[in-house]
Amino acid sequence: MGKLVVHGGVRLNGSVRISGAKNAALPILAATILLDEPVLIHNVPDLLDVRTMMEILESIGFNVRFEKNTIWVKPSASLKGQVPYEPVRKMRASFNVLGPLAVKCGEASVSLPGGCSIGVRPVDFHLEGLRKLGFSIDVEHGVVKAKREKRLGECYVYFPFPSVGATEHIMITAALLDGTRTIIENAAMEPEIVDLANFLVSCGAKILGAGSRRIEIEGVDRLRSCEHSIIPDRIEAGTYAIAAAATRGKVLLQNVRPDHMMAAIEALNQSGAQIKIDGNNLLVQMNERPKPLKLQVAPYPGFPTDLQPQMIAYLSVADGTSVIVETVFKSRFQHVDELRRLGLKAELTDGTAIVYGVERLQGTIVKATDLRAAAALVIAGLMAEGTTIIEEVDQIFRGYEDLTLKLSKLSAIVEYENG
Ligand code: UD1
Repeated sequence: MGKLVVHGGVRLNGSVRISGAKNAALPILAATILLDEPVLIHNVPDLLDVRTMMEILESIGFNVRFEKNTIWVKPSASLKGQVPYEPVRKMRASFNVLGPLAVKCGEASVSLPGGCSIGVRPVDFHLEGLRKLGFSIDVEHGVVKAKREKRLGECYVYFPFPSVGATEHIMITAALLDGTRTIIENAAMEPEIVDLANFLVSCGAKILGAGSRRIEIEGVDRLRSCEHSIIPDRIEAGTYAIAAAATRGKVLLQNVRPDHMMAAIEALNQSGAQIKIDGNNLLVQMNERPKPLKLQVAPYPGFPTDLQPQMIAYLSVADGTSVIVETVFKSRFQHVDELRRLGLKAELTDGTAIVYGVERLQGTIVKATDLRAAAALVIAGLMAEGTTIIEEVDQIFRGYEDLTLKLSKLSAIVEYENG
């Protein structure tokens, strides 16, 4: 495991091009399992998670090539219906291959995803959804087997919580259930779900309502080849925007979709940052200590949970007390302990963080507990006096393409050291 050495006290300055969205690329790659013809996907970020999904596609017999942010996927006529444990252990999003693989092969087996450092993450909505689509589900020795048992005319799937992964999983699976009309109620509305639906529709799927709480899918018997470009990563963009404000810098984010980032933009604005939107560019500038915020983390279009750790890092030096209520992953606060080592003053009570702003953070040695926690520690390190060493930092490369290069271009002084 490598470490990142961050020298604090430098204001970020300059421009940064935002990469394609990891969380759109992963389900779209899972959806290619449904196809009989090759597809080209552009603006794919070169990240560990994307490489893991490629590994899965190759393990079931696909031919995959990745060059300069474009992936070419060529399906195989003889698919294997079993996915090895290792990639699923590494990345939860790989569980979304179960449904499409079971549609193509009649039955499929995928390991249950392992535990996760951001809290309990069950897959019960996925499994219940697949049952509603006519699959039998057996879980034995940590492996889930899904088998297509019934061909149904109409299916209703209701999620108790608008789960991103379960919405994607059911939407992908239902797309190729010929003769079946599926209605998903209380669907997640994230932009990545709309991107996935747009990809599937370009391949010939019939999907209405993606981006709303009700999605309707009319299964088709075949999906054709298409070319698709992944949307910009709103979480990467939000991270750089927060880093810009946190270092009291001035950063132009290029290739962003500001309309996908309204909750984050609003929060930064309320904290005193100046934000200018110009088409696909976003200029973030900040000259003062942030004002404290009351922030509720919620499913899209609410403030994203994947920016909550970074926001806590930022608000650690606010001029007053902030309250951050996490409603998506209620125990996602592992970063708070590490941030405390840098000087954060915070209390945690049942899904809520109360952050008492301090004047400054001070660099020390910390450990990254998960991907976005690592991003929060980078932001804190950039703000802190002196040097911060972030150990076990490699998880950050699951979600941030060219991180050290992009930060260096913004004048940050960061060095990655192999462990
Ligand atoms: C996706 C994102 C992740 C983000 C999260 C919430 C990807 C690859 N990952 O994760 O970065 O943090 O959305 O925006 O896109 N739940 C259940 N049962 C289930 C499924 C979910 O109880 O079967 C619960 C979860 O524990 C959590 C909530 O629903 O409390 C939301 O999780 P979900 O939206 O499914 O997150 P992921 O799709 O795993």
